[in-house]
Amino acid sequence: MKLSSRMVSTSRYPVMIGEEALEQLRKHLTRCRKLKSKLFILTDANTQRFCLPKLITRIPELEEVTMLSIDSGEEVKSLRTAEYLWKELGSQQADRSSLLINLGGGVVTDLGGFVASSFHRGIETVHIPTSLIGQIDAAIGGKTGVNMDVLKNQVGSFWAPKGVYVWPGFLETLPRDQVRSGLAEVAKTALIRDEQFWRWLSRKPVHKILEIPFSDHFWKELLLNTIRIKLEIVRHDPFERNQRKLLNFGHTIGHAIESLALRRETPVLHGDAVAAGMACESFLSVQRTGLDPLQLEAINGWIQQGFGKLPLLQEDESVRMDMMQHDKKNRQQEIRFTLLSRIGQGKINQVCSPDQIRDAFGKYYNL
Ligand SMILES: NC(=O)c1ccc[n+]([C@@H]2O[C@H](COP(=O)([O-])OP(=O)(O)OC[C@H]3O[C@@H](n4cnc5c(N)ncnc54)[C@H](O)[C@@H]3O)[C@@H](O)[C@H]2O)c1
Repeated sequence: MKLSSRMVSTSRYPVMIGEEALEQLRKHLTRCRKLKSKLFILTDANTQRFCLPKLITRIPELEEVTMLSIDSGEEVKSLRTAEYLWKELGSQQADRSSLLINLGGGVVTDLGGFVASSFHRGIETVHIPTSLIGQIDAAIGGKTGVNMDVLKNQVGSFWAPKGVYVWPGFLETLPRDQVRSGLAEVAKTALIRDEQFWRWLSRKPVHKILEIPFSDHFWKELLLNTIRIKLEIVRHDPFERNQRKLLNFGHTIGHAIESLALRRETPVLHGDAVAAGMACESFLSVQRTGLDPLQLEAINGWIQQGFGKLPLLQEDESVRMDMMQHDKKNRQQEIRFTLLSRIGQGKINQVCSPDQIRDAFGKYYNL
């Protein structure tokens, strides 16, 4: 599928994708330097090392901008780091007319977005996502947040950036496992909304996709399609009242797996947890929403060759159930899922019983 324009515009901010994204960013920042009191760039240890030099080579004016850096990893997405950044901004004379530029993966854009949304009751922000999950998901749609203990994204806000600039070149230094992790979210996006995109994606096994250079047209196509679908969904439902819940396919179970692993201090990659979540929720989809077993086979076949099978323990089932019940997206004691009625068509608010969920886990153990 082709998009004629490289700029996908929402009513509120542009999302620029491809080689020219950095040129557009440069123009945006030139305007900001005239209008804004002070510019800040937030990086983590890895994006400071790998991405900032590339960015400065292309936009040398950024050398004058005040740098803020944090450690890398999910653990820094916390109120403690947010407080550190609020204090740093304060001590470096940031005011309401300052701009915070977030250069990094989902941790940096979620945390930076949250800090921007709350500092002096809100300052402007721009996202330059550098991981695949950041580029296709975290930086798109205006959700920000931090974790509390092992519970993900417990505190946060909706805060639209002034622009999102997606340059595939940053992905060259992203560890391969992280690229693979992002591919799980790409697959999810296709599965809930676009059968043709799914067919295009799943023609290639994951290990073949990982061999394709990021300068190849393939990646641009992949980024454009995934971002287009996410934007279509969030444009109609920015505050997740209904259709945005489509994006939760694989995540009710995936988040429980991820949170439990974090609690045990044996973290799993977000994409691996989501891949396992999608496999289990595809089993539920056959039971609850009539997914064709042949489509189930195609989905779980692609997932398994790309992501393997997580060693989920049967004795952890009740803890996982408990975590799902406490997921902030659920009401009362019900556990709600986004399931598939077919490839390309997600269905939100599907309540499944504990027995159905246990049955889906059982099928996953036997894959
Ligand atoms: N706001 C949303 O709508 C939304 C959506 C999806 C995910 N998220 C959040 O995003 C986070 C996951 O995102 P992520 O996978 O990008 O995590 P991340 O930001 O921790 O990045 C993963 C790792 O890659 C490194 N990295 C990033 N870009 C790099 C590059 N170009 N070269 C080398 N190293 C690089 C990071 O330093 C980190 O070590 C989670 O916290 C999740 O909750 C948010």
